Formats: sequence, structure tokens, C-alpha cells
Amino acid sequence: MVKINIGGCSSFVKESDYKNYVEKALAAYDVLEAENGAGNDFLGWKHLPSETPEELVKACEDVRDDWKSLNIDLVVVIGIGGSYLGAKCAIEALSHSFARELRKSGTPDVVFAGNNLSEEYTAELIDLMKERNTACVVISKSGTTTEPAVAFRIVKKHIEDVYGAEASRRIVAVTDASRGALKTLSTQEGYRTFIVPDNVGGRFSVLTPVGLLPIALAGFDIRALLAGAIEEEKALAVRCECNPAVKYAAMRNLLYSECGKGIEVLVSFNPKFQYLGEWWKQLYGESEGKDCKGIYPASVIYTTDLHSLGQFVQDGSRTMFETVVTVENSNREVVIGSDPQNLDQLNYLAGKHVEHCNAMAQLGTKLAHIDGGVPQLEISIDRINEKTLGAIFYFFEFACGISAYTLGVNPFNQPGVEAYKKNMFALLEKPGFEEQTKAIKERLEK
Ligand code: PA5
Repeated sequence: MVKINIGGCSSFVKESDYKNYVEKALAAYDVLEAENGAGNDFLGWKHLPSETPEELVKACEDVRDDWKSLNIDLVVVIGIGGSYLGAKCAIEALSHSFARELRKSGTPDVVFAGNNLSEEYTAELIDLMKERNTACVVISKSGTTTEPAVAFRIVKKHIEDVYGAEASRRIVAVTDASRGALKTLSTQEGYRTFIVPDNVGGRFSVLTPVGLLPIALAGFDIRALLAGAIEEEKALAVRCECNPAVKYAAMRNLLYSECGKGIEVLVSFNPKFQYLGEWWKQLYGESEGKDCKGIYPASVIYTTDLHSLGQFVQDGSRTMFETVVTVENSNREVVIGSDPQNLDQLNYLAGKHVEHCNAMAQLGTKLAHIDGGVPQLEISIDRINEKTLGAIFYFFEFACGISAYTLGVNPFNQPGVEAYKKNMFALLEKPGFEEQTKAIKERLEK
């Protein structure tokens, strides 16, 4: 379902080097499949699509139906990193671009919190909750992450104050099966809970209840999402140079290691994929950026960003390559009309679809960027829907495992994210951090 075209890289790499990197990627594929590489206790995501039980899908749909019976019109999804980006990506991609302005009813608005520590954002969330009939999904695998914990304390209090005894029906937790503060609280309060499997890391968790529950609550078809992921799981389970995940891993590692391309820009010509870029950046950034190695993942939306970052991509330092996610077919049709005055001189486009202009902009950009020294990979899906999203999620996860092993790093840990937390806890004077608080204060006084 997900196709790849690496033709836009051919003028930058030697065929023999590419073959060499395909061999490396196939060796990495073997490690991923044999499950004997670094971090191999975090491979539960590999067979999630085909092994998701009907009961789990049904349980997500049951929460949706229960909250519908309470006329809930606002669901606050609390989580950070892998605990929100997949759901945010899917909901943004599948929603009407102007759903809010159109005030479409029938499904609750899903908003996200606990992914920042902004007081203004929090206060504005409270403003919103006061106006609406609110429920909350709190997602934290560890149950101890500061950002979602702060947000949940505030949202929980609002729900308890407003809905009293019904509060526990309006809060669902997605967390570890047995450990952590959120698990303990859920048991105490009688919240419905969903489990993030032990062997699935946050950034690989979109096809667990972490993603499935919010996506279902937003009114989308999680059965179709899983069906697309299952097809992709099958399609990628072949040890072959033709495997799109092997090709992607081989080419991006070749561009990075042999051609000095240390930045990969994920490009979409559809604004609905803005958060695909955010989800993908976390997946690849946290999986590969370690041991002083890794491709820096960036993302843009064209043609919008051709009028800002396009200058840099065309003409700035030659350190990047692009991976364009092509959507082959638009779900909607708009044809450009003819105008008798033709002051804008656009009559040459009369009768053409807007998407035709987009496709020509995409092709023109490809040629221009290749001429400017930017290799281009292309990942294609038929159209944006639940099924293709499921496929693209699985594609990028599987390719990420292969790519990180090709690079020689553990794809499934994230030691670097601890550094800021230690400093923050010391500065916040968290109990247990007394030594670090003293040291950091001394450092700041110098
Ligand atoms: O990929 C990861 O593991 C991280 O980004 C986590 O998802 C993120 O830190 C949130 O962690 P938790 O779900 O434990 O609150």
C-alpha cells in the first residue's frame, strides 16, 4: 500500500554504493526479524496490527458510545511525545480542515493537553472546559511524566468539581498494566483503563489504545486503520531489496553516511499532514539521534513553506535531502473556473482541478530541488483515509527499526530526554533532588 520511489536520488549516489547499503539494510532487517538486536524487548509493535484483539477495538468503541450517551462534546486527551502525537496526526489528517468553524456535530471535539507546561494554554483549556460537556483520556505509559501529570491534576479537579460522582465515568486512563502512579490512581478511583503493552515504547504506540482510543472518540474508523496496518505488516514481511522499508532505510543511510546529508526534510503537499511530520520527527529523532549519530528530522508543508523555507532548501547549505509523502488522489474535487476579465491571467487553468496545480507544483519542486543539490525520496499513498494512515504508520515504524539498526544505534531507547528532566526537577526543588538543586544553584550563581 505504501510505495517508494528513490529515482530522485540517483544522480547523487553510485549504484554500487546503494547496493552496499541495501546489504546493510537487509542485515538490519534480519536483526529486526530475529529479534536479537539492541532494545529487542521493545518489539511488541511489530505484530500489533495483526494481533489486536476484537475486544480491544470493541472496548474503545464502548467508551465512545458511553460518552455519546452522556452528550460529551469535548474530550481532553492528555499525553506528551508518543502518548499524543500519533492520535493528533490521525485526527488532523482525517478531520475536515474547518471542522471547528463549521461547528460539525455528532462527534466530540478532541483537544490535546499535557504536551507543554504553558500556563496560558492551561488557563485557556480551563476556559474551554467550563463551556463544554467534558471528558478526559489521560495517557502516560510511565504514569510519572511531569507535563501530563500537571495537566491531569487540573483537568481531574475540574471534572470532579463539575460532575461529582460521575467523574470516574468521564475519565479513562491509558497506562502500564501494573506499575505507576496513574495505574494506582485508576484502581483507587475506578477509572476504566487501557494498557500500553510493556514491550511497546511511546513513539511506536499509535496502534495501541494510546492512538486507537482517541481516534475512535473523534469518530474515525479504527477497524479500517488496523486493516491498513495489517496489509502493510504483511507487505513488509519480505526479505527483499524490493521491500520499500529496506529501500528507504538503505537510501537515507547512504545519503547520510556517504553524501553528507545530515538533515532529512519530510515534505507533504497536503496541510492535513502537518502532524504526520510531527509524529515522524519524534519517531526518527528519538530512535536515531543518539551516540553522536543520526539524521536530523525536519518537516515542511508545501507549497506553503516554498514561500519561506523553500529558499533555503533550494539555495542554502547543501546538507539536506527530502522525503516527500505523496497523496496520489484528492478526496474532494474543486475545478478552477473561467473569468471573463482574466485580470489574474489564470484562464489558462480554467477547467483544471486545484490538485492538478498542486501535482505540477510538486513535480516542478522535485526537479528544481534535485537541480539545487537536494536528493529526493518519495513515499506514496493512494489517498488520505484511515486505511492508508494505518499503512503509513506501520511503514515508518518498521522502516525506522531497520534504519536505526543500519545506522548502528538502539532504536528503542531515549537516554537523551532525561537530561532536561534532571535539571528541571533540581530547579523545581523536587524532593529527592536536594544535591542536584544545590549544584545547579551554584552553577547558575557563577
Ligand atoms: O517515545 C517515548 O517513549 C516518549 O516520547 C514518551 O512517549 C513520552 O516521553 C511520554 O511518556 P509517558 O507515556 O511515559 O508519559
